[in-house]
Amino acid sequence: MWSNAKDKALRERAAEVIPGGMYGHQSTILMPDDFPQFFTRAEGTRITDADGNVYIDYMCAYGPNLLGYGRPEVMEAVARQQALVDTCTGPGPVMVDLAETLVGMISHADWAMFCKNGADTTMMALMIARAYRGKRKVLIAKNAYHGSMPWNTPRPAGVVAEDRAHLIYFDYNDTQALADAVKEAGDDLAGIFAAPFRHDTFTDQTLPDAEYARTARRLADEHDALLIVDDVRAGFRVARDCSWETIGVRPDLSCWGKILGNGQPISSLVGNNRAKAAASQIFVTGSFWFSAAPMAAALETLRIIRETDYLEHMQKMGTAFRDGLVRQAADFGFGLRITGPATLPIMLFDDDPDFRIGYGFCQAAMKRGVYLSPYHNMFMNAAMTDNDLTETLDATGAAFEAIKESRASLKPSAVLAALMDA
Ligand SMILES: Cc1ncc(COP(=O)(O)O)c(C=O)c1O
Repeated sequence: MWSNAKDKALRERAAEVIPGGMYGHQSTILMPDDFPQFFTRAEGTRITDADGNVYIDYMCAYGPNLLGYGRPEVMEAVARQQALVDTCTGPGPVMVDLAETLVGMISHADWAMFCKNGADTTMMALMIARAYRGKRKVLIAKNAYHGSMPWNTPRPAGVVAEDRAHLIYFDYNDTQALADAVKEAGDDLAGIFAAPFRHDTFTDQTLPDAEYARTARRLADEHDALLIVDDVRAGFRVARDCSWETIGVRPDLSCWGKILGNGQPISSLVGNNRAKAAASQIFVTGSFWFSAAPMAAALETLRIIRETDYLEHMQKMGTAFRDGLVRQAADFGFGLRITGPATLPIMLFDDDPDFRIGYGFCQAAMKRGVYLSPYHNMFMNAAMTDNDLTETLDATGAAFEAIKESRASLKPSAVLAALMDA
């Protein structure tokens, strides 16, 4: 029987000693009521919460779980490296191996730098774009998330206008808006940030229009500015290369995080020779940026990416998941849109302006052992089996049935409503 007594007790303790009880993207404050905050273990496709409830996990740690939690080959590589050295006075040879490997796999890359989180890579990209020709203006699509640094965090607290003084916003996929933003930057254009596709929260996802992407490349070239693709979220779930390689547009810089070490803490900024001198001038570092074990994890993850059908398998599973859910929704009289690549689907209901149907559905699925998100894109992983999918659809079928019966009493989330009003 599902229960969350231990999770509730942990939340009470956390509220005393952790600001807000929990912060950032893994805070469950925006999730439906009763979603577990604390987890004790994970293996393959499944996560176990503090009360011992097990879920088939479609959030994958918000991305990092690409090959299955605790993938043995990756964990063995970590253990081998840890037995030698991890964090040390200098990096290991594995850093050079890893840079060579990424340069070999990502078509536009001539070099790589390593750090810990996605936000480290986007910050470095911003700095390199400015260091490149000493220009200041950086273009960003409205509502695109590139990390929690002051220049891009979605919440206003602690941010001053000067943090964003030289940023110019435009609408994703709108070639004219992009051209207007470039015009506004004038001869001060340092760089253009591009999301591989539009993957904002609470919104249907949109794939990039090839003409828009080509325009971004052309305008960056015409103004001697750098084009940056932020592949932190979508990296290696769309291609075995930079995601924009699928539409034939090569950036100068691309940002990688999340999946790189299959959950081990490592991220990377890669770039071409045009950006190399600027990249070697900026001062960026961190106490753990050169740790060898996550690099060993990344090398092994990349080997599996190259040598297996992990991507095609995830695409197949993601397509079956999407088709199954949409079919079930229709059977129970709901309109459901699942948009974006099959490996990173977002699920939004028709006629659900305050998300009460989505919230009710995800809560019902969670209590039946399937962890979904009602407002954020989800993530497929390569460990997913036909059995997982059958179990998932059994649970979601029951969840649809439950919310169909209680549809009239579904309530919007007060927290979400307040946030949307703000
Ligand atoms: C597109 C994108 N860029 C950057 C980031 C920041 O990554 P991190 O949370 O690892 O700092 C994220 C995180 O979700 C992301 O989705």
